[in-house]
Parts: sequence; structure tokens; C-alpha cells
Amino acid sequence: MAGPACIPKVSRLLGAFSNPKQVTRGFAGGVQTMTLIPGDGTGPEISASVMKIFDAAKAPVQWEERNMSAIKGPGGKWMIPPEAKESMDKNKTGLKGPLKTPIAAGHPSVNLLLRKTFDLYANVRPCVSIEGYKSPYTDVNIVTIRENTEGEYSGIEHVIVDGVVQSIKLITEEASNCIAEFAFKYARNNHHSNMTAAHKASIMRMSDGLFLQKCREVAENCKDTKFNEMYLDTVCLNVVQDLSQFDVLVMPNLYGDILSDLCAGLIGGLGVTLSGNVGANGIAIFESVHGTAPDIAGKDMANPTALLMGAVMMLRHMRMHDYAAKIATACFATIKDGKSLTKDLGGNAKCSDFTDEICCQVKDLD
Ligand code: NAI
Repeated sequence: MAGPACIPKVSRLLGAFSNPKQVTRGFAGGVQTMTLIPGDGTGPEISASVMKIFDAAKAPVQWEERNMSAIKGPGGKWMIPPEAKESMDKNKTGLKGPLKTPIAAGHPSVNLLLRKTFDLYANVRPCVSIEGYKSPYTDVNIVTIRENTEGEYSGIEHVIVDGVVQSIKLITEEASNCIAEFAFKYARNNHHSNMTAAHKASIMRMSDGLFLQKCREVAENCKDTKFNEMYLDTVCLNVVQDLSQFDVLVMPNLYGDILSDLCAGLIGGLGVTLSGNVGANGIAIFESVHGTAPDIAGKDMANPTALLMGAVMMLRHMRMHDYAAKIATACFATIKDGKSLTKDLGGNAKCSDFTDEICCQVKDLD
């Protein structure tokens, strides 16, 4: 059992958010109600695993489970179920399993719908090496912060003439300022000292230029964090060749989508990677970044680590640091022990065996 040696890693793992639009809630004791969206495919299995581990840790959390399939509302407009929206609006904090996007024509991505419904403007993905789990790089500790609402993913596309289509990259001063403020506050709250803005303002002078200008302006008022700016292609090269120069990366939507997966690859892939999304009105939704894994759904084979780490980030966001540390320490100890690992981690254990082992480790920490 890995004991306290793991704790420094845990503490640097996942930060508490500081939302520039609204101050987050502090943990004042008592049971907190949080929305749980188990999701599709393996989602219910890994959600059950998280709930079991939270019970073992005696985390003071009461779950409000909600379905998150897209439905057609009045006028045929796609929306998320009203009970799910009400629950999130009330609880402000939620944990989300993977959601499938049906291939049927016209069906929206539920994840995109969720982003729009709650104005989830920032996506934060910490990538930290997990001791005992062999991955391409060691000692990775990097955070990507992605603007989540506009840029290349604004969804503004049209045909100009037959054979010529146009997609518009929308960058606004407001959203750029918001993400830059969030990124610097996140860095300060979580003891990161270095911020790099990834951009291509040399080519997209106006759009990336505006994004970069807002980052520079916010950096001027945050002198405790060293600010660098770097072309996206140079960032990609340097991440692979000399990762040590990076700490927190902030960037527009598409660059963030790509770079965050690149960074997930450094620590062993999406199966162990989590993310947190921050929205307007103090809403925060934490998740695993992998999909529904239909090939293993219902077979008790899924690895719950990513969702569990998302739940740990949620606990830290709720200022329940002791519970977060206990659960993360138990999970890392289980992985380091290597006796009860799921197939994707190189073992033969079922999701339920891995979960039970983490529960034992959690109880040993009491
Ligand atoms: P996927 O992430 O579901 O699966 C890719 C591979 O990773 C598969 O071999 C799968 O078995 C494995 N895998 C994924 N999660 C795992 C876990 N927890 N433990 C062990 N192995 C795991 O990606 P795919 O197949 O492209 O997408 C399937 C569905 O998921 C689609 O409907 C897609 O839209 C949705 N999706 C949802 C996401 C979300 O809600 N955040 C993200 C990505 C995809």
C-alpha cells in the first residue's frame, strides 16, 4: 500500500476552479447534493464504481441521478431533459459519464448541447503521470485550458457556391477575456507559475490576434504567473521534445481539442484522463474524457479511473480536499500495486475487482 508517499502527487493533481463569473462554493460541512449523469454504454458501470468508492470513503455526497439524452422540445428544437437542467441549475456541480451521439442524421451531439445549455466556457484537463502505470513520458504535470464555446467550433458553416464551403471561426473579446481570466486564476489557485498561450496569430492575425491580446492584457495584471506565447506548431514540437518548459497552456477551442488529447497521450491515454468544465452561473461539470466504449459495455471490463479522477477534481472544487486526497491516494496505490488492474491498464481484473480494491485501500487510509 502506497501510503503518504502518493499524497504530494494527489495535491498537485487537480485544482479547485475559481470561476471569474462567480465565486465557487466553499465546503462548510454537511452533505452536499451533486448531480450525477451516469451516461451511456459503460457510463452506468463506472458511475456505480465511483459511488461505491465515495461510500467507502464516507464522502458527504448525495447523488441526484439524471438522464441526459437529447430530446425534442417545443418547436422541434433539441434540448436536454428539463429534470437534468433543473438538477444542474440547483446543485451547480455535477459528474458526467460518457454520452453517446446517435449517428442518426440531424441528431445533435449531447455533449455540445450540454456545453451550450450551461455556457460551459472553459474546459480544464490536467494531465499528471500516474505512478506505476507505464506511459510514453514520466513525471508529466501539465494542464490544458481550452476555450469551449466558440472559435472553429462555432458551427457557422455554409455553401458559397457549389463545391465551395465556408466555415467561420468566431473569436470574441468577451469569451477570450473570460478564458484568459479563468486560466490565470486557475494557475494562481493551484500553484502553477507558468502560462503559455498557444496561437497562430501570425496567420490568423485578427481572430487569434484578439485572443492573444486578451491573454496579454490579463497577464499584465497577473505578474506572479510567467506568461509566454507560442505558435501552436511550436508548442506541439516542444511538448514532445521538452515538456518541462510547460505548465499551464491556454488556447482557443480547436487547438485545445487537439492539444489536450496529445497531452492525454503523454500519460497513457484517455482511459485515465479527466476533465472539468466551468460554466456561467457557477456551474461546473466534471467528466471522464473517453467515450461510451460500446465494445465493452455491460461486460464489467471498463476502467473507472478517468471518471473517478473527474470526481476527485469535483471534490476539490467543492473544497472537500481530505476526501479528494483519500480517494486519489487509494486509486493510485491500487494502480501502483498492479495486482488488480483492468485490461486497458495491462491486467485481467474486472471493473468490480478494481473498484473493490480501491475501496479496501480507502478504508485502510482511515
Ligand atoms: P471510446 O472512447 O468510447 O472508445 C475507444 C476505445 O477506448 C475502445 O476500444 C474502448 O473500449 C476503449 N475505452 C474507452 N473507455 C474505456 C474505459 N473506461 N475503460 C477501458 N477501455 C475504454 O470512443 P468511440 O468508440 O469513438 O466512441 C463511442 C461513443 O462514445 C460514440 O457515440 C461517441 O460519440 C461517444 N463519445 C462520448 C464522449 C463523451 O461523452 N465525453 C467522448 C468521446 C466519444
